Amino acid sequence: MKKIHAIVFDLYGTLYDVHSVAGLCNTYHPGRGLEISTVWRQKQLEYTWLRSLMGQYVDFEQATRDALVFTSAHLKLPLDDAARTALCDAYLEIKPYPEVPDALGRLQALQLPLAILSNGSANSIRRVVTASGLEHRFQHLISADSAQIFKPHHSVYKLAEDQLQLERSVILFVSSNAWDASGARHFGYPVCWINRAGNTFDELGQSPDHVVAGLDQLADWLAGQSD
Ligand code: LAC
Repeated sequence: MKKIHAIVFDLYGTLYDVHSVAGLCNTYHPGRGLEISTVWRQKQLEYTWLRSLMGQYVDFEQATRDALVFTSAHLKLPLDDAARTALCDAYLEIKPYPEVPDALGRLQALQLPLAILSNGSANSIRRVVTASGLEHRFQHLISADSAQIFKPHHSVYKLAEDQLQLERSVILFVSSNAWDASGARHFGYPVCWINRAGNTFDELGQSPDHVVAGLDQLADWLAGQSD
């Protein structure tokens, strides 16, 4: 791997915990919160991929709303309009994983430009990052909106290379989503997979260059390299 000159992060599930919304789901259907947020997230991802294949882009907030409607019908757990709106609003304020705020500070101290490249809409990325008070950590917030298609399409990965004006081989792409890590590796970024939960990497013909169990370990690794 060449020396890294910038880091690009995935947002949902990588820096921020999509299951932050499980608590609010529980208030509508006690004991079922995590199940709702798990089906919701899976459907949300499927809808982004299916919309991409259909050539019919809708933004991530729309895909998220549509996935919630499906989830509620599929699990036979009714959510009225007010509940759906409250849950979609909560998605705009999901929480960072506990180690993330400190680790981002350590990575920024290494003088590496940090960016987010997410399937989230420009609005949702800004809302999530601002709600957590971490906006000062990032030089660029890059949305799939600009490509009108979702990751893992290569044109979305290209957005970060273009914004950072660096060759892809010196941009470390960091994701916890194995499908995203595979897409980024296929595009040509060196990749770090954050595997917090002991998951299995996808069989998409790619392997991550580095695997860590949390963002703090990535900061340790890069700090060691810059010594
Ligand atoms: C992201 C998601 C979908 O791109 O993980 O942030």
